[in-house]
Amino acid sequence: MSVPSATTSATPGIPRHIAIIMDGNGRWAARRRRPRVIGHRAGARAVNLCIDFCLERGVEALTLFAFSSENWGRPADEVGALMKLFLNALDREVDELHRRGARVRFIGDRSRFDAAITARMDAAESLTAGNARLALSIAASYGGRQDIAAAARALAVEVAEGRLSPADIDEAAIARHVTLADLPPPDLFIRTGGDLRISNFLLWQLAYTELWFTDRLWPDLDAATLQQALDDFAARERRFGLTGEQVAPTPATDTMAP
Ligand code: FPP
Repeated sequence: MSVPSATTSATPGIPRHIAIIMDGNGRWAARRRRPRVIGHRAGARAVNLCIDFCLERGVEALTLFAFSSENWGRPADEVGALMKLFLNALDREVDELHRRGARVRFIGDRSRFDAAITARMDAAESLTAGNARLALSIAASYGGRQDIAAAARALAVEVAEGRLSPADIDEAAIARHVTLADLPPPDLFIRTGGDLRISNFLLWQLAYTELWFTDRLWPDLDAATLQQALDDFAARERRFGLTGEQVAPTPATDTMAP
């Protein structure tokens, strides 16, 4: 039996990897009687706040759900506005992210973006590839089911080419092929905007992740809200299917004894 093990952060109580669904941009704009794109623009500012927070607290990896495979079905003007926003953000933010030591990568089906965006994604990844302070992954045109299907396809190719036996397809084999295979799985998942769902995000990777939801809309995100998520996370007992006794820290031995 394979039991996922707890990952230990360099900073006690701080999750090594946080994954976030940034929801509520549209409602934030609607409450102000503004077009949805204004909410997305405000959402981009919250992205910066969130990255700053993670860099300051020593979080090693941050994965943000920016655009799902299903979001392509939104009205064309909203998709177009989001693409423009991504393009601007790539032009504006990447140098600063590099300066601050973030390694940027994009996960998802890149082939659906136009060449101007994919060229900037490639350039951002190359520029920041050597950085180690924060692994920042942006999920764009990403779907968790598609991620698992792609892993299954890759394994099928290995079997077809005689490099892998079907009997050797186990959890570890799949884990090697899903995206973010080189990172610890997320310790903490945060979703803003009040909905209590995973919405096809990192389905494989979130198996033992602590889930945290807030009604706060993404553009209203502040450091206090993120700190509350961290405080709640630090107070949770992660058992990974074991008993509380099995995972409890062993009592300190009495160092005063002769
Ligand atoms: C969900 O809110 C948000 C999105 C689909 C887009 C996320 C984009 C950003 C946060 C801005 C830019 C990001 C980067 C990485 C530069 P929604 O539109 O579904 O909100 P609603 O549920 O209130 O309608």
